[in-house]
Amino acid sequence: MGTNKVSITVNVNGTNVAADVYPEESLLDFLRNRAGATDVKCGCAKGDCGTCTVIFEGRTVKSCLVLAAQADNKTVLTLKGIEQDELTQQLQESFVVHGAIQCGFCTPGMIVTARSFLEKHTNPSRMQIKQAMSGNLCRCTGYKKIVDAVEDVASKKTGKQIGG
Ligand code: FES
Ligand code: FES
Repeated sequence: MGTNKVSITVNVNGTNVAADVYPEESLLDFLRNRAGATDVKCGCAKGDCGTCTVIFEGRTVKSCLVLAAQADNKTVLTLKGIEQDELTQQLQESFVVHGAIQCGFCTPGMIVTARSFLEKHTNPSRMQIKQAMSGNLCRCTGYKKIVDAVEDVASKKTGKQIGG
C-alpha cells in the first residue's frame, strides 16, 4: 500500500464516516473495515462475483471495483441501509420461501441488485430478471430459485402470474 493517505468522508447508510484511506483502498474494504458494514461481503475482490454490491449515489456498483477515495462526499447504501424498505423485505421473504438462500454468502448482494432492478422495472420478463442478476454469482442454489424469488416479487407488484 502507498503511504500517502487521503482523508475522506462517506455517508454510509445515513451516517457520515470519516477516515484516512490509502489511495488504492477499495470502497469494499472501507465499508467493511472502517464503516462496520460487514453485511457487504467479499467473494473475489476483483469484480467477478457481485457479493460486494452496494448502491453508490443511487446506482448499484461492485464496491471492490470502486476506490474509497472516489466515494469522498458521496452516499452509499448497503443492504442494512435499505432493510426497512418494503421491496427489500418482500425480496428477503421471497428468497426464504423459494429456498433461494443456502449458505447465504451471496444473498446481500443478490437482494441489493434485485431491489434496485425491481425499483426501476415494473413488469420485467424472466429473461430480464436473469440478465439483471447475471453479475451476482451463487455457488449453492443453481440460480433457478433466486430467479423464481425475484420473479415472484415482480409478479406481485404487477399482479402478473409467474410464467405468464
Ligand atoms: S467481491 Fe466484488 S465482485 Fe466479488
Ligand atoms: S447461497 Fe451460497 S453462494 Fe449463494
